[in-house]
Amino acid sequence: MALTAEENERLTRVGPGTPMGRLLRWYWHPIAASAQLLENPVRKVRILGEDLVLYRDRGGRLGLIGDRCAHRATGLQYGIPDEEGLRCPYHGWRYDGRGQCTDQPLEPPGSMFKERIRITGYPVEELGGLIWAYLGEAPAPLLPRWDQFERPNTFRHIAGTMLPCNWLQCLENGGDPRHGAYLHGHFYRYVIERMQAEGKEVTEEAIRFAFENDYGFQEFRELRVERFPYGQRKWVNHAPPGEEPRWLEHTIVVFPYMRGGQIGVPVDDTHTWHIIYMTYTPKSSIDVPDPEVVPYFEAPFADERGEPLFDYITAQDHMAWWSQGDITDRTKEHLAYTDMAVVGYRQLLKEQMDIVVEGGEPMNIFHDPASNVRLDHGPARYPWARSLADRETPSSQPRFAADTAQFSPVYRQLLDLYHTDQEVLARRRETSSDDGEEKIRRR
Ligand code: FES
Ligand SMILES: [Fe+2]
Repeated sequence: MALTAEENERLTRVGPGTPMGRLLRWYWHPIAASAQLLENPVRKVRILGEDLVLYRDRGGRLGLIGDRCAHRATGLQYGIPDEEGLRCPYHGWRYDGRGQCTDQPLEPPGSMFKERIRITGYPVEELGGLIWAYLGEAPAPLLPRWDQFERPNTFRHIAGTMLPCNWLQCLENGGDPRHGAYLHGHFYRYVIERMQAEGKEVTEEAIRFAFENDYGFQEFRELRVERFPYGQRKWVNHAPPGEEPRWLEHTIVVFPYMRGGQIGVPVDDTHTWHIIYMTYTPKSSIDVPDPEVVPYFEAPFADERGEPLFDYITAQDHMAWWSQGDITDRTKEHLAYTDMAVVGYRQLLKEQMDIVVEGGEPMNIFHDPASNVRLDHGPARYPWARSLADRETPSSQPRFAADTAQFSPVYRQLLDLYHTDQEVLARRRETSSDDGEEKIRRR
């Protein structure tokens, strides 16, 4: 059932005062990677349609304040970090992290005028190499400590792409577990065919993924969708109809918009900062180096001529989202069986908006520090299902080789780590089977 124009507006608009904007202001949002402040400690950011300035002062404190000085509106993104706070470049008014003016160096000595000056200021926190902001009413709930941001001995790197489309288009990809068969199978192969016809270089990893990946099946597959306390989960029966079912859990959605390592942050109504938060935790006992700051890089969106790229997995997803338009017209859709989870998630969003509009607290909000430790949103807890992660078998070509990770500044380190881990595991398997043989011989 297609949506009405009003329903589509209500689901997509995130500005202050809109129903979705009010719902989303209950949650913490990533606004930058910590690594981005290394290059420049002051940065303009836009989140939920609000223009703000993020800074780290010389005392190491983070602040997130309105982007215009209260004096005569100069842009604070050009401000000077002070020992405590940020100074406007024009006449030096200084603001602390709450947006309170704390100094007006050119005003008469003893003037108390500064005490009456306050601009917007929002709480910020750092977790897992990302800087998170809370734009809602005080008191702020806890920043949820999901396992991927806290897990020890884990290799992390973060990719980001600014996409020219509404956040819900990105999110709804997570409700669509069957697009892989086409977009990352058939379409990928077609892209490679076109590239080869044009004499462009195609990587071995791309060819291997496109031709050997297990998204290849394209017949009908049964789906199951279910809500759970953190959001929505879903499963695909990987067996063809009529055979013994093999249910595998597909990417879950953690309310409101995180799906595993993919976080599609609503920048405004028509822009989404798509973060791919990548982690690798060795299965053997090898140590992972702990960098001072988690590396961040921009995933390429277009080639030198400005033509969009399609030759890696996430770029194909990106195309599927932004080519729907800046805010897709959901009155024109024809939803089918495979959209089961998309429909379910829209319903969930509507219900949560209603709760907030009626003055209640929406789902997946954390208040108790004791229950906010390494929150685990998977894997499948059902006897009839396994998680996709369990399916990963050792191979010389990890799946990430055909995706965003290949552009990472620490890609070589990741590959080394992966291969060492695989070697140690293989050796361990050999030794344990030797032991087994020993025992048999001794008997
Ligand atoms: S405009 Fe900022 S101090 Fe004057
Ligand atoms: Fe995809």
